[in-house]
Amino acid sequence: MARRLGLALATILLFLGSASTAGAQAQPPKAPANDDCLACHGDAEAKRENGTSVAVDQKVFADSKHGPLECVDCHKDLATIQEFPHPEKLAKVNCASCHDEEGAKYHDSIHSWAKEKAGLAVAPACADCHGTHDIRGTDDKTSRVFRANIPATCGSCHQGVLDKYRVGIHATKRDAGNDAAPVCADCHTAHGIQRTDTDAARLSVTAECGTCHAESMRTYRDTFHGQVTRLGFVRVATCADCHGAHDIFPKADARSMVNAANRVTTCQKCHPSANENFAQYDPHADRHDKARSASLYYTGKFMDGLLISVFGFFGVHTVLWFSRGLKERRRRQ
Ligand code: HEC
Ligand code: HEC
Ligand code: HEC
Ligand code: HEC
Ligand code: HEC
Ligand code: HEC
Ligand code: HEC
Ligand code: HEC
Ligand code: HEC
Repeated sequence: MARRLGLALATILLFLGSASTAGAQAQPPKAPANDDCLACHGDAEAKRENGTSVAVDQKVFADSKHGPLECVDCHKDLATIQEFPHPEKLAKVNCASCHDEEGAKYHDSIHSWAKEKAGLAVAPACADCHGTHDIRGTDDKTSRVFRANIPATCGSCHQGVLDKYRVGIHATKRDAGNDAAPVCADCHTAHGIQRTDTDAARLSVTAECGTCHAESMRTYRDTFHGQVTRLGFVRVATCADCHGAHDIFPKADARSMVNAANRVTTCQKCHPSANENFAQYDPHADRHDKARSASLYYTGKFMDGLLISVFGFFGVHTVLWFSRGLKERRRRQ
């Protein structure tokens, strides 16, 4: 009933519209206004033949970031339509026509690849992460992509990962109010998400850990693993190989991969013959930190001392030799 009412109303509106422009034949056809569309779609009962809803909540749309837009700015194939009803099947909305930058990054992502190339209908397009008529800005607490809501948005598909992430230190710190702890998009990016087993992804996540853990990054860079990783060779251990990716815990936590009880197992993933002794090796050894790396500290100091005394000895030797040579030359003259 309500829908039929809507249809009738739309027909009248259109009739009025064409009557008023009848005198100005030469004018280019006017694009339908939002009210024209809402005459049918503003009805909460509006449905397709198959019973699924085609209702658009006018208030929700008006409050969204796109509230100022025309329906046909997105539903472009209806921009030139003169008569309703319009065709049943319409073109998909192309968000990238206005958001070129996000569109270009998304184009090269695993999600786009999975959707377009592998034909996985379950892979997300823009609207699966952002919504359609209720899209809000990143600074809006009710937005699906507001920082605190990102794990739930990604987790709606990656439930297994979300479960692990939720118990880890990063999520528990976030729950305790530390907004500096990372969400999915910090480590994976939002639009240019890559398969995580690629070298590029492994290196970029490692760099990302380092943006927050600068000290751990510095000491890691000094070790064999870090030196080699810096050269771009990623088969050695990256942060996530030793700490995990989603269920990361402080070392004192029994679930931590670097907890004293689990450390040998962690090293054994790549060093099959590793034992307790091998695992004593500190992957974050710091030769400037006496308390942490005493032997490295004293070895470092010894080497510094050796360097100074060797150069010192030969320095003095050279000076004496030079003045001796000078004296000798004067004596001969
Ligand atoms: C006369 C009523 C009416 C008007 C006016 C109308 N629509 Fe529709 N629209 C419908 C109906 C009915 C359907 C469901 C068609 C079906 O059965 O699949 C629909 C479907 C749609 C769909 C879904 C298409 C798809 O491929 O699934 C979109 C998008 C849409 N309309 C947008 C608009 C826009 C934008 C306007 C204004 C320019 C508009 N409509 C005006 C009645 C209308
Ligand atoms: C920011 C872009 C944008 C604007 C503006 C927009 N839509 Fe949509 N609309 C979408 C997207 C995205 C979809 C999902 C289908 C698709 O991807 O094409 C959609 C789907 C629809 C559908 C199909 C039912 C549904 O909810 O999936 C209808 C009907 C519709 N829009 C009507 C409207 C009307 C009426 C307006 C103006 C009041 C409007 N749209 C404004 C992006 C937009
Ligand atoms: C896998 C989920 C996902 C998909 C798919 C996705 N986005 Fe996003 N988008 C996000 C997240 C998360 C943010 C939050 C900001 C951030 O971390 O970069 C965001 C932010 C944005 C922003 C705001 C950027 C800013 O700096 O304020 C725009 C615009 C945007 N996305 C557009 C798009 C468009 C267009 C597409 C499709 C080409 C798309 N998004 C696809 C998750 C997604
Ligand atoms: C006709 C052009 C147009 C289309 C098409 C369009 N948008 Fe937008 N979008 C805008 C404008 C304009 C803004 C507001 C920008 C502002 O306020 O700075 C905006 C804002 C946004 C924001 C909020 C950015 C922020 O401030 O955090 C997101 C997210 C977004 N759009 C996503 C999408 C998605 C997803 C689609 C496809 C469903 C889409 N847009 C289609 C023009 C468009
Ligand atoms: C602290 C950085 C970090 C955060 C935060 C993070 N990830 Fe990951 N993620 C990684 C790393 C590193 C890998 C690679 C793991 C590996 O190689 O064992 C990965 C792997 C993945 C994979 C593929 C492998 C798998 O386990 O299925 C998915 C999917 C994924 N992450 C989704 C997410 C989602 C969803 C979130 C948020 C709930 C998230 N990630 C949060 C770093 C992170
Ligand atoms: C609508 C469902 C959906 C949403 C939402 C979603 N993803 Fe995905 N994601 C997928 C699918 C499907 C794949 C491809 C699966 C595959 O081939 O491994 C995928 C792949 C990935 C991969 C690569 C996995 C690998 O094997 O290395 C990562 C990482 C990832 N997604 C992270 C995210 C993040 C971060 C977000 C939120 C910003 C997110 N996803 C949102 C469905 C989704
Ligand atoms: C966006 C910033 C950010 C990123 C990216 C990040 N972390 Fe964290 N991480 C934190 C914060 C904040 C804490 C909590 C510190 C605290 O209050 O104890 C934390 C805690 C930890 C802890 C527990 C020990 C401690 O100092 O509390 C470990 C281990 C850890 N992170 C490892 C990693 C690894 C490995 C990666 C990359 C895969 C990573 N983090 C990426 C911010 C980050
Ligand atoms: C070869 C394995 C390995 C690699 C690679 C590695 N770590 Fe560690 N990490 C450890 C071990 C073992 C400890 C505990 C050392 C100790 O006993 O103090 C640790 C300690 C830490 C801590 C302090 C944890 C706490 O609870 O106090 C943080 C934070 C950390 N690592 C971050 C990182 C980051 C970021 C990277 C990459 C830049 C990284 N780690 C690379 C093995 C590793
Ligand atoms: C993801 C794989 C991986 C993990 C996990 C890993 N390593 Fe390594 N590590 C390597 C590779 C590859 C090399 C270089 C080849 C070699 O020498 O075995 C290396 C080299 C080393 C070296 C220098 C070369 C040597 O063998 O003397 C030390 C020391 C070392 N690792 C200690 C550790 C310790 C301790 C752990 C556990 C806390 C650990 N590694 C975990 C891959 C890993």
